[in-house]
Amino acid sequence: MSQATNQSWGGRFSEPTDAFVARFTASVTFDQRLARQDIQGSIAHAAMLARVGVLTDDERDAIINGLNEIQGEIERGEFNWSVPLEDVHMNIEARLTDKIGITGKKLHTGRSRNDQVATDIRLFMRDEIDVIEVELKRLREGMIELADREADTIMPGFTHLQTAQPVTFGHHILAWQEMLARDHERLLDCRKRVNVMPLGAAALAGTTYPIDRHVTAELLGFDRPAENSLDAVSDRDFAIEFTSFASILLMHLSRMSEELVLWTSAQFNFIDLPDRFCTGSSIMPQKKNPDVPELVRGKTGRVYGHLMALLTLMKSQPLAYNKDNQEDKEPLFDAVDTVRDCLKAFADMIPAIEPKKASMYEAARRGFSTATDLADYLVRKGVAFRDAHEIVGQSVAYGLKTEKDLSEMSLEELKQFSDIIDQDVFEVLTLEGSVAARNHIGGTAPNQVRAAAQRARDALNALKAGA
Ligand code: ARG
Repeated sequence: MSQATNQSWGGRFSEPTDAFVARFTASVTFDQRLARQDIQGSIAHAAMLARVGVLTDDERDAIINGLNEIQGEIERGEFNWSVPLEDVHMNIEARLTDKIGITGKKLHTGRSRNDQVATDIRLFMRDEIDVIEVELKRLREGMIELADREADTIMPGFTHLQTAQPVTFGHHILAWQEMLARDHERLLDCRKRVNVMPLGAAALAGTTYPIDRHVTAELLGFDRPAENSLDAVSDRDFAIEFTSFASILLMHLSRMSEELVLWTSAQFNFIDLPDRFCTGSSIMPQKKNPDVPELVRGKTGRVYGHLMALLTLMKSQPLAYNKDNQEDKEPLFDAVDTVRDCLKAFADMIPAIEPKKASMYEAARRGFSTATDLADYLVRKGVAFRDAHEIVGQSVAYGLKTEKDLSEMSLEELKQFSDIIDQDVFEVLTLEGSVAARNHIGGTAPNQVRAAAQRARDALNALKAGA
């Protein structure tokens, strides 16, 4: 180390870094979260250097043993993180040199913190994606089972949040599941581009040592070494891709949350959420608030913010590495934590939803939700659709005045609006008849919902087997 500064790069400097600047530029307070991946990367790097003859086997072993001991110190909370040592990489390297002496200084041969940090983040993202995927699968499974169980449960379907046509609760839940199936694909697609190895790019141009990047890539489980050293150390598009996956996922979870919040209200009264997912009010004793979905809805905002932060961080950056990129970590860490926790909350909560079937049924009945069925009935009897629409409109106006649903009117009452209406109309005016008639792939008929649940289950299992 230089006399003029306490930094490992201080050789060319004539005065120490300003104390505030040292704190301002340091990242160790947050990038220590990458310690495990940093050590993992260093162990593979040392093993590769020995393989190509840059380190002796003894030097390699000393380095690897030292790094493993440091890993233990960190796990036990005994490691002394130092801000003057700037970041996780130099903290660990300095400790290694403390422990094993001059050999510790050889670890950094043929690499730079630029390819080191890019490698660490990718290893970290890969680990976190795998944890997130477990929660996502658990949530999808919970939804598929709930949908299957509730394939016959009738509720109003909405457009413009106005009662439109009856659907089954299972069909509604499978709509959510479809959103998540696409998010799942996006996550796995993102993982492919995360799992490429920057190590060996060194500072920006590669290194003069006879490194073998295939060896390191294989040791670290990367699919391949990154093709171009300048690109490898500089781009954070994989982090942007992850936060964009996260933003779309949270957008979906916020839609589900919104519906859960509405459904638990006394005004809808469609479902009950068990008390363990809710909290009370300190002033209004009657309250039971759906905090979990509300909070997930709220957390969507911070994830969108992280996407915007990373896009803006990367914008206009010239090649290759720039210190700007140190700012990638906090948004990424928070996005990862938020996604994982929101998925966990949902995966725990969804199977516990208790539908209030009678109340859903009643809401569907009250909203003239079978009006389209009456129009379709008339069309089948030869009435043009536009005329049928008009006839049904008059029937609904009569129903509003007399406070009767279409299915509650007598045949005589219905005949006021069209002679063609006959006794068989009551089959289509029931909610059960209405949902059962939508009997095709993607339709809400209970047998279709059960078949769709089975296909979703198979698709999920195939994904598990393939992964
Ligand atoms: N702490 C830095 C980061 O997070 C590590 C790389 C620093 N490289 C450099 N040449 N200063 O990006």
